[in-house]
Amino acid sequence: MRRVLVVHASRHGGTAGIAEKIGAVLRADGVDAVVEPAARMPDPSDFDACVIGAGVYMGSWVKDGVDYLERYAPRLAGRPVWLFSSGPLPGSSKEAVDADDPYEGALGPAEGPGSGGRKKVEALSALFGPREHHVFQGAYDPKDPPKTISERLVRLMPASKDILPPGDFRDWDAIAAWAHRIASEVAQPVPLG
Ligand SMILES: Cc1cc2nc3c(=O)[nH]c(=O)nc-3n(C[C@H](O)[C@H](O)[C@H](O)COP(=O)(O)O)c2cc1C
Repeated sequence: MRRVLVVHASRHGGTAGIAEKIGAVLRADGVDAVVEPAARMPDPSDFDACVIGAGVYMGSWVKDGVDYLERYAPRLAGRPVWLFSSGPLPGSSKEAVDADDPYEGALGPAEGPGSGGRKKVEALSALFGPREHHVFQGAYDPKDPPKTISERLVRLMPASKDILPPGDFRDWDAIAAWAHRIASEVAQPVPLG
């Protein structure tokens, strides 16, 4: 049975929920899936493939996710890896701006001001070449207290109601469809090198 490691970097649980769903779909499709937080730094070496996802805050991946890629990029090279970002909230100013560029809505522009977080993830991904980097809509519950000072400050801004629409916008059907696709790709025989 193929073994897949699903790693998540989540500040408020939204991304963790997406990772758990991906794990459940993979298991239902006959894959031995293990779901772990990035902070535990699970070693990908024992797995046939990896799925790694992070929540996005102010255009950057949650730090544990970046740390995970930094630590394991060399070991991820040579095995199938899928990345996902969990971010945009519908109606927020961060929602997809350019339909041809799905990352812009979550991680910001490819160049210029506000491109730092995206450049970091892209530079690390280039070290192992993921099969895909998918963007899923996220969730925001204003009653869940902020976990960092910068998050607290953004929430205090008068415009925060416009840039942070509350609600759970995770598209479970889209997440399940993506996980089914990963399961079918993982089931393909590995070409002999
Ligand atoms: C202060 C704040 C800033 C955010 N910044 C972004 C952003 O830059 N891009 C984006 O796509 N989503 C942004 N979001 C939405 C989050 O990514 C979304 O809530 C996500 O589901 C959080 O994942 P988590 O619950 O796993 O931490 C932001 C949310 C908050 C509260």
